[in-house]
Amino acid sequence: MHAVKDSLLSAQDMPIQKRKHRKNYAETRQRMRWTKEMNLEIVHCYFKAIISSSTSYRQSMHRYWKQLYPDTTFTEQRIADQKKQIFCHANNTNTLSKRGHWLTNLEIEAIKSQIINKDGKFQVEYYPCNKLKGSTTHCGKIASPKTNEAEVIESCLSIYNLIKTKEAPDGVLLDPTKISKSLAGTYKEGKDYDVMDEILGKGLNGQIAVVRDRVSKTDHALKTVMLALFNPNEIRAWVSLEGCSQFPNLYMFNKIDGKIELHHEILKKAVTLADVINDRMGKLREYPSLLHHFSLYVLHGLLEASSTMHSKKWLHDDIHEENVMLQPQQDPSDSPLRLRMIDFGRVKNLKEDRVVNDIQGIIRIFTSVYLTEKFNDVYDLQKNWETKLDKHSDDFNLSYDHKQELLALVKLALDVTLTKEEEDLKRIVSKKLKDSREEAPEILEDIAKLIFPENFPDENMDVTDGPCVQEINYDIFAVGK
Ligand SMILES: Nc1ncnc2c1ncn2[C@@H]1O[C@H](COP(=O)(O)OP(=O)(O)O)[C@@H](O)[C@H]1O
Ligand SMILES: [Mg+2]
Repeated sequence: MHAVKDSLLSAQDMPIQKRKHRKNYAETRQRMRWTKEMNLEIVHCYFKAIISSSTSYRQSMHRYWKQLYPDTTFTEQRIADQKKQIFCHANNTNTLSKRGHWLTNLEIEAIKSQIINKDGKFQVEYYPCNKLKGSTTHCGKIASPKTNEAEVIESCLSIYNLIKTKEAPDGVLLDPTKISKSLAGTYKEGKDYDVMDEILGKGLNGQIAVVRDRVSKTDHALKTVMLALFNPNEIRAWVSLEGCSQFPNLYMFNKIDGKIELHHEILKKAVTLADVINDRMGKLREYPSLLHHFSLYVLHGLLEASSTMHSKKWLHDDIHEENVMLQPQQDPSDSPLRLRMIDFGRVKNLKEDRVVNDIQGIIRIFTSVYLTEKFNDVYDLQKNWETKLDKHSDDFNLSYDHKQELLALVKLALDVTLTKEEEDLKRIVSKKLKDSREEAPEILEDIAKLIFPENFPDENMDVTDGPCVQEINYDIFAVGK
């Protein structure tokens, strides 16, 4: 009876308690409004999901989403609905005014081609290409609007005005010893620098090219990001990390033809951890103590890099094997190996010192180095870490001590949520590394010889088939095999 009566009451007639509840609900709904950034991420997740999963793309799209926004409670259905909405809007909306936080077909197309380029083997059809005609990604281009001309003109003029009032340049030169801009204050391909044949790597944003400054004749790396997809925090974070040895230095950034160019330091002879794991660890895996030390070394290096970023209030949010590089010794005063973190394309402000996303990325790299277990996603990691690592430890004949240590470390790392816990973990790993080095002071050199045999031509190693291990006496490391 009461229930029926309540349902007939208007909001004003409701008892205070109930009105309050409804208000809260409305507020919650408001807070969950989708932003442009979230919509871009949904499309990213969608393409990643259809590449990586042939069966339930919805499930894996949701998993990717949860990696990016672990605090949201959206269901699979909600994410799938949102994806559908984004694509509908892209096909139906041709005006700036209606666009708001929705994406254009060209923006979607750009994400699609990045992801497919990276994989190189996938073709996705989700809307007829002729629908692209008349699409309105004006960012960095000259528009010829068929509708809403006045509005397009105004949006363009407001940017001109902003540039004028802020006296904003197109770019900022951070290291004039590496980059020689022209007298006119520009830095252009074919005039001030040349693109060389060498490609350093490929990521979601395309290739990282080697370019040569025409005046200094020195080479540096060039990353190009489409303005429509550019995250300004990439530059903010990179600049704030200037001089921190775990990262390459940024020399200059520049907006040119609707793209942002990021000129930066080449990490000489560096290889991604993905390549190290896939191609360079065969011999290392035959020596339990070397493998143990190297895995701890990587874990420690990752924690050093991430905690440096966290101390500057940045969350990397994209720590994976392609975004970490290992460098062999550059000169005799250097350490035999160096771990460098790259790619700030997804950097976010660190909120409430919560570092979970980065730590999960770190754990997945650590277990991948140690036992080739990457985990499918964070859910797989959280749910199956113990069973999977227990099994792999046995498959890889890890000693009892090493296995227990690995399980304990992963358990500890999974409990890390805040920066201070990350510092504690780093200290623990640092102590273990120190102990291991005390037992075998040359251990890192020996590891470097196995991973980068080409860097040790005098060591009489067969570079094509990997190093000749008999040349190095590792008997001491066989303990615990
Ligand atoms: N400074 C660098 N020195 C050497 N190689 C690099 C450098 N920066 C990037 N790379 C290579 O290029 C790839 C893509 O670079 P990244 O910055 O991650 O681009 P994206 O944002 O597109 O993923 C990396 O995985 C790596 O192989
Ligand atoms: Mg990358």
